[in-house]
Amino acid sequence: EKGGYDAFMLKEIAEQPRAVADTLLGRIGADGRLHLDEMHITDEQLREIDKIIIIACGTSYHAGMIAKYAIEHWAGVPCEVEFASEFRYRDPILTKSTLVIAISQSGESMDTLMAVRHAREQKARVLCICNVNGSTMPRECDGVLYTHAGPEVGVAATKTFLTQLVAVYLIALYIAQVRGTKWGDEVFAMVQLLGSMPEKVEKVLETMEPVRELARSLADEKSVLFLGRHVGFPVALEGALKLKELAYMHAEGFAAGELKHGPIALIEDGLPVIVVVPPRARDVLHDKIVSNIQEIRARGARTIVIAEEGDDSVAPYADTLIEVPAVPTLLQPLVTTIPLQVFSCELATAKGHDVDQPRNLAKSVTVE
Ligand code: M6R
Repeated sequence: EKGGYDAFMLKEIAEQPRAVADTLLGRIGADGRLHLDEMHITDEQLREIDKIIIIACGTSYHAGMIAKYAIEHWAGVPCEVEFASEFRYRDPILTKSTLVIAISQSGESMDTLMAVRHAREQKARVLCICNVNGSTMPRECDGVLYTHAGPEVGVAATKTFLTQLVAVYLIALYIAQVRGTKWGDEVFAMVQLLGSMPEKVEKVLETMEPVRELARSLADEKSVLFLGRHVGFPVALEGALKLKELAYMHAEGFAAGELKHGPIALIEDGLPVIVVVPPRARDVLHDKIVSNIQEIRARGARTIVIAEEGDDSVAPYADTLIEVPAVPTLLQPLVTTIPLQVFSCELATAKGHDVDQPRNLAKSVTVE
């Protein structure tokens, strides 16, 4: 049932182009407009929303962080993201015009489920993004947008994460479409571009051999750091989570701008630091991260840089350069996450770990 792969995780990473395509299927009309009727929310209700709160755990939380950037940029609605386990132990301000979106691949995470119940008690409208048909969360929410990743067996979330990203982009663009924000043309162009993402994901998968080699060469390291800015920051957190979860190795993700506020003291000779670089078109953001790379390299870090193809300005500072296809900033996590999945999977395998069933973890965490 592993379809010729040594592990479900490898199979599921390879299935991502299909998973992304299936999650887009039937949701983009011939006229380029989005149709998300399954969310059971009327245009009028969507126009009345004044705040969005996203709740999730683990990898789904990282999808939530990326959703915040997409929703605030395209839809222009204030958006907060919170760990589901924290959400209900403070006093979140929820009203009838608050939209809560729970993100859970399994639809069974107890932390997220309890947060959903709490939000519904406060009369907020609650939607969920879920991959498992008939699971508990979709039954308890006002509406659901299913991801169509197919069953994910490996404990590490891979294809479900990429499809959650597709789902959050669809929701952000749909809200923008309904509310008619100033980004009308960009929204239309993004919907078109989303349609081309499966090919781009495929292209990344075809170029992963050097990443596997790199991972094997780092199997004896004590620690790996991950840096990113903007949506590259949650991608860095996701890279670190995967490495902890699968390779049982110390790993941390940082917002690159926070380096100088403390973490830079961790940099020492030979420390591997993986940096996610935004597209060149985002000049300010891009240039800032190039100087972050120079700073850590001057202090001895071994720089492993994920950047868009042909980015010559970053190449001179990269000990290892991993190129991904050029896509707009907000969509970039769909391509930059893949090398990090492959990296942690290969490194954990080199250490002799079972990547499908890491120690102490379960696929659905049904206790609080
Ligand atoms: O099923 P969920 O999306 O609610 O699960 C949330 C987390 O438990 C999950 O993403 C976990 O962090 C993964 N094992 C990460 O690979």
